[in-house]
Amino acid sequence: MIAILFGPPGCGKGTQASIIAKDINIPHLSTGDMLREAVKSKTETGLKAANIMEEGKLVSDEIVINIIKDRICHNDCEKGFILDGFPRTLSQAKELDVMLSKENMKVDLVVDFSVNDEALISRIEGRFSCGDCGLGYNDHTKLPLKEGFCDECGSNNFIRRKDDNRETVSKRLEAYYKDTLPILPYYKEKHVLNSIDGLGDIDSVTTELMSLIKK
Ligand code: AP5
Repeated sequence: MIAILFGPPGCGKGTQASIIAKDINIPHLSTGDMLREAVKSKTETGLKAANIMEEGKLVSDEIVINIIKDRICHNDCEKGFILDGFPRTLSQAKELDVMLSKENMKVDLVVDFSVNDEALISRIEGRFSCGDCGLGYNDHTKLPLKEGFCDECGSNNFIRRKDDNRETVSKRLEAYYKDTLPILPYYKEKHVLNSIDGLGDIDSVTTELMSLIKK
């Protein structure tokens, strides 16, 4: 199964991809996470991407295509994978098909999450995570059970993404509407596109997504 979780920043792609990937035991490939890791490790890619990400713009197609090309040839991707945040331009979508066809693979499912802009901004402004184990939280929907301490590892080191502020989110939304949304007709023509309401609670979105995956 090769599935693409598609939608604007904050629609729940990352949340759902990590749940589904564990459930069906295939890797969750997030270009955002891979780029943040590169920025943290100060690799050549990370140094190129850091400012672009902080400004809420898209990193170049060349960089992200190479990241995905390197990742999908690992053995754990043989049975498929879930893409979160890739492709984000039509060129990335077309290049993904070229990569997959070389391995006799194809995109099986694209799921578009629909969520209105106000809800997206509120979710993103509320997002934080444990800086030690990575567990995600949200000011509006999921606070630590014991205030100030991570439920998973007990750490009090919480972090927020540098691009999770109102100003950068509007830039990220602009990039989404200009460069990413226009990919959808490409997948519609291939009859792999499905839409779900991303405004439901996390469990109901997972249920809807799983039913599409098991179809
Ligand atoms: P990336 O990390 O991909 O960010 P994004 O697309 O902006 O997506 P987010 O991670 O903000 O949102 P999400 O949909 O995963 O939401 P989440 O599940 O966390 O990219 C970051 C940057 O990297 C880009 O701006 C760009 O610069 C660069 N980049 C990455 N890929 C690229 C590419 N292919 N090409 C070029 N540049 C690229 O949920 C958000 C919050 O909402 C969480 O707190 C969560 O708990 C909460 N939540 C989730 N679901 C629900 C729900 N159903 N109900 C209530 N709350 C919910």
